[in-house]
Parts: sequence; structure tokens; C-alpha cells
Amino acid sequence: MASSLLHHFLLPSVLLLFSSSLCASQFPKSGYITLPTKLDPLTHQYYTSIGIGTPRHNMNLVIALDQNALWYDCDSHYNSSSYTPVSCDDSTYCPGQASGCFNCHGAPHKPGCTDNTCGYYAANPFVNATPFFSGDLGKDLLYLPQVKIPRRFLSGCVVSDLRPNMLPLLGGLVKGSKGMLGFGRNSNLALPIQISSIYNVIPKFAICLPSSEKSIGNVFIGGTPYGLNSVPNRVAFAIPADPDSNEYFINVNSIKIDGQVVKVSGKGFNGTTKFSTLSNFSVLHGSIYKPFVKDFVTHAEAMKMKRVEAVKPFGACFDGKSIGRKNGVPDVPGVSLVLDENQGVNYEINGHNSMVEVNKDVMCLAFVDGGKETKTGIVIGGYQMEDRILEFDLSTSILRFSNSLLLHYNASCSNPSSLNF
Ligand SMILES: *[C@@H]1O[C@H](CO)[C@@H](O)[C@H](O)[C@H]1NC(C)=O
Ligand SMILES: *[C@@H]1O[C@H](CO)[C@@H](O)[C@H](O)[C@H]1NC(C)=O
Ligand SMILES: *[C@@H]1O[C@H](CO)[C@@H](O)[C@H](O)[C@H]1NC(C)=O
Ligand SMILES: *[C@@H]1O[C@H](CO)[C@@H](O)[C@H](O)[C@H]1NC(C)=O
Repeated sequence: MASSLLHHFLLPSVLLLFSSSLCASQFPKSGYITLPTKLDPLTHQYYTSIGIGTPRHNMNLVIALDQNALWYDCDSHYNSSSYTPVSCDDSTYCPGQASGCFNCHGAPHKPGCTDNTCGYYAANPFVNATPFFSGDLGKDLLYLPQVKIPRRFLSGCVVSDLRPNMLPLLGGLVKGSKGMLGFGRNSNLALPIQISSIYNVIPKFAICLPSSEKSIGNVFIGGTPYGLNSVPNRVAFAIPADPDSNEYFINVNSIKIDGQVVKVSGKGFNGTTKFSTLSNFSVLHGSIYKPFVKDFVTHAEAMKMKRVEAVKPFGACFDGKSIGRKNGVPDVPGVSLVLDENQGVNYEINGHNSMVEVNKDVMCLAFVDGGKETKTGIVIGGYQMEDRILEFDLSTSILRFSNSLLLHYNASCSNPSSLNF
């Protein structure tokens, strides 16, 4: 009895000492939190590793710019003694119980099975039939690689095996990952917003995605390790008309290939260009894709690039041997998304962001046809964001971005100290 009492009192404080010495709660002295980020070569998604709950459950989560929160699979085997459900009466985080109010009659309580609990809908765009999965909104301990977040962090807990025959909650995500980490534009639950209110730092973050599964990129939260010179371009990101939209839109006025405007018929694409880390390659509306590919091919052939049969889903592919190299990246026609014609602000897409090697002989233009039905004119996908810095400042709605680090600065996302130039 005595020894078990001793255990009872000693153990938690020993653990506390341990965990606080291993992982402090203070905001890092560097001025930013770093999330090392990896590329999954099979899906071309980007993911990071975090820990949740007590005991600490380590898990990989897919980086999702436009998701409203961190959500994870708290399946029937999952439990955490530090979990606190958000009550349906919480007017801040459960206003009007918009996402429902759930009870878990009789069953033993655990995350995802508690009473009077605010609902949370997890969206998985890779599960086509029903992209929404109902779960609970809860608070629990969150461990990021450098810090243990000192307040309970709000996130969505979705019990994947609640009902048999349910669609797969984690369908289409990187193998072994347990959910998504949301950076949504308009959400109080998004990671940079919660970090900002917990630590009183600017709600901003920067992504620097790796371009190879062998290297590690970084997401920086609350601050950044580089100077403003490293991110010379500056443009506002548009406020979406829909206040529930968590997407990051910018205004693209035109696309140029080697300085020549691609002529697009119809109403064009003004105001409907967004960034998506869940899109592996950029997707262009059919009315933009066709003239874009045609013009690219014309310029490519003028450079003696030899067109070969296209490999799906790409619309234009070339014999790899017919493509030269410049500073180590494919030397191909330059693509510019013109963001501000007068100020000369362009999102430049050079060979390492525009060409993808589909096999050792063939390289394809890394853009995909979205067809006529797609709502968004241009979705700038992950491939077109790799090895460049994109900094989203939510306090000012300003996006700062660099061009290709490899080509212009000989830096890379896997080496933060190379980012200061
Ligand atoms: C790109 O994403 C689509 C949709 O998730 C997937 O089917 C495809 O395999 C991915 N392609 C690559 C090369 O990763
Ligand atoms: C989960 O853990 C809590 C606290 O440790 C415990 O009270 C509860 O019974 C556990 N639930 C299940 C289903 O094991
Ligand atoms: C987009 O809007 C800008 C002004 O906001 C205009 O100059 C440009 O021609 C428009 N582009 C298209 C394709 O409609
Ligand atoms: C880039 O840096 C590497 C070493 O870090 C060097 O070998 C290479 O020559 C550099 N390339 C350019 C284009 O400056």
C-alpha cells in the first residue's frame, strides 16, 4: 500500500521533471517554431511529426494549407488521460453548435466518446464520395518537435472505426499518417492562430517544402530564420468571399511563357488562383490549360526539346536527353504567373518546379488539366512550391515569396542557414 502510494505521488512529478527538461514550454529563443517536413514520393504529399495526449502519441500528419484545424484519428484503441472535450455550451469554440452536439451514451469515456461534446467535421478531399467525417472537438496536450505547447491545444478527434463499413477516414493520405495539420486562412483552430494566441506572437507561418524524399524541408511558425531579402516578392493574398473558406487565394492577371502572354479566352482566371499543398501538381482550368500547353510546346520546340507521347496525367512530355541543364535544373521555357504587372511581381516557375521526371528518359510539364467544371482557375500545387519560401502573414494578409532557391540563390529548404542571403 505504502509503496503504491509512494508511486502515486512520486511518479507524476518525476515525469514532469523529465518532460520539462526534454521539451520546454517556452517559445523557442530563435523566435520561431520549426516543423521538419518530409515529402512522400508515392502521393507527393508533405507531412510532419507531432505528439498528442497522455501518454504521448506520436503521429505523422499531412500538411494542409487550407484545412481549418489539426485533426487526427482517435480510433477505438486510442485513449488519453489529458483529453478534455469542448462542451456544446462553449460559445467561443462551439458557437450555435454549428457542427452538432454529440453524446456517447453508456460506453466507457475516451477521446471521441464523451457527452455534450461539440462536433467537428474532418474533411478528407481524397475520399471522393463523402469528404466529411464527423468527430469531436477536444483539447489535449500537443508536442511539437521543439516545444510542449503550454495550453491544451484544440483539435478534431475522429474515431475512424466507430461504425463498420465507414469510408476510410485516412483514405488517400500518406501511408501511416493519422490525419492533417491545418493552416487555414480563416480559422481560430488553425495552428498559426492558436500558436499566436498562446504565445502572443504574430500569426504568421512560412513553408519551405522539400523537393526530394531524401531531404527535409521546414515549416516555420510565429517567425522565420531568414531576412526579408530572402523573400523579395510581396503580394496581398485575397480575402475569400466566403468567410468559411480557409483557402489562400491570390490574384493572377495573366500567365507568361518566356515573357509572352498566354491568350486565354472566356473570362480568364482573375481572383481564382489558390495555393494547395494537397494538390501534388498545379491544376489549370481547361480553358487555360489548352493554350498554356500549346504555347509551352511551341517555345520548347524552339529550344530543340523533343516532344514524346504524353504520360498521364500530364499533357506534354519530352525526351529527357533533349533538355539541357542550367545551374543543375532543367533548362526549359520559363513560366511566370503575373501577380502585379505594374510592380513586376511574378511567381516565376523555372525548370525545377515546372518539369517532372516520370522515368529516366521522359520529363513532363508538371501541370494537370482541371477540365471545364473545376471552380478554381489555377490551383498552385505542391510541386510548384518546392524549394522556395512562401510566407503567409495572417495579421496583414501579405504573402511574401522567393523564387526558386536552387536556381537563384543556391540555397535549399533543407538547410535553413542557407536561407539568409
Ligand atoms: C497526385 O495526386 C493524385 C490524387 O491524389 C494521385 O492519384 C496521384 O497518384 C498523385 N501523383 C503522384 C505522381 O504522386
Ligand atoms: C480512458 O482513460 C481515462 C482516463 O485515464 C479512463 O477514465 C477511461 O476509462 C479510459 N477509457 C477507456 C475506454 O479505456
Ligand atoms: C485581370 O484583372 C486585371 C486588373 O485587375 C486586368 O488588367 C487583366 O486584364 C485581367 N485579366 C484577365 C485575364 O481577365
Ligand atoms: C552551389 O553550392 C554548392 C556547394 O554548396 C557548389 O558546389 C555549387 O557550385 C554551387 N552552385 C552554384 C550555381 O553556385
